[in-house]
Amino acid sequence: MTNVDDITGSRRMRRNRRFEWQRRLVRENRLTTDDLIWPIFLCEHTSGSEPVDLMPGVERYSVEAAVDAAKRAFDLGIPALATFPNIAIDKRDATGSAVLDADGLINQATRAIKAAVPDIGIITDVALDPFTSHGHDGILRDGIIVNDETVEQIAKAAVIQADAGADIISCSEMMDGRVGAIRAALNAAGHNDVAILAYTAKYASAFYGPYREAIGTDQMLKGDKRTYFMDPANTDEALREAELDIAEAADMIMVKPGMPYLDIIARLKAEFAMPTFAYQVSGEYSMIMAGGEKGFLDVDRAILESLTAFKRAGADAVLTYFAPKVAQMLAQTT
Ligand code: PBG
Repeated sequence: MTNVDDITGSRRMRRNRRFEWQRRLVRENRLTTDDLIWPIFLCEHTSGSEPVDLMPGVERYSVEAAVDAAKRAFDLGIPALATFPNIAIDKRDATGSAVLDADGLINQATRAIKAAVPDIGIITDVALDPFTSHGHDGILRDGIIVNDETVEQIAKAAVIQADAGADIISCSEMMDGRVGAIRAALNAAGHNDVAILAYTAKYASAFYGPYREAIGTDQMLKGDKRTYFMDPANTDEALREAELDIAEAADMIMVKPGMPYLDIIARLKAEFAMPTFAYQVSGEYSMIMAGGEKGFLDVDRAILESLTAFKRAGADAVLTYFAPKVAQMLAQTT
């Protein structure tokens, strides 16, 4: 068989890369503001905010400041926020009972944001780590994170968060059977339309370090989370996790961390064709910022490149602490 290019000259891949207009025409993936979910940290101050030391540019917001942040996000076109609380240490106990406080920080913030900015999506999380005295995501008994008792508690928490106005309940604690239990509890409470974002493939990762400072579990965590988060060496197991979460009626599935796990995103998207989210976690954020501070990365380009990589892998949306900055950048270029 004769190849036309062999006759006329040679295959030149670079023809399509000559000009910016030409590159735009052949571009396969595009990051838009619609792809962004902004995770924000909450604190119990009555007003204002405070910096998270390990995440330059990231703040913990009082409820009042969170409302302002939500307004800003909405004006930038960001579809949704995900909230994570940093509560007083003396409210934390072995079972994370403060997750059931209907007037707790998460629920206060949801109510206040929903009242002021009704059209921004609110994603809350039922994991127990912000509420436990040991920093684990579940109830600790005799050195073991007990599965079913934790699931019972977080299903109750899901209803309380939905009562406060959360649109999507996420579960980042990787207990078995939690999606089905949360679905049943939500339905029984009349919250049939509240969605569930399952942290389907959440890995026992080193990249969560700065987050633990942000919610104040860095000093408290005893041991590690390898008996419930996934082993970074596994891929097939993520498919089995996804099968279960989908069977239990998860509305979206997620992979976390992000960049080191693009293969998992691609595989889950190809296999299940579900809305698939990625979490560009705190360590990924802080690495890019550190590269900028040290002068060896162009931060803006690194951010856009990393987020475009999630799109290329097949992610429908990305949780990223860069969300407002990216929304600003995208507004300037389009
Ligand atoms: C645990 C949870 C983690 C993150 C959010 N919720 C991981 C952990 O501390 O084990 C990490 C988010 C990040 O690093 O940005 N429920």
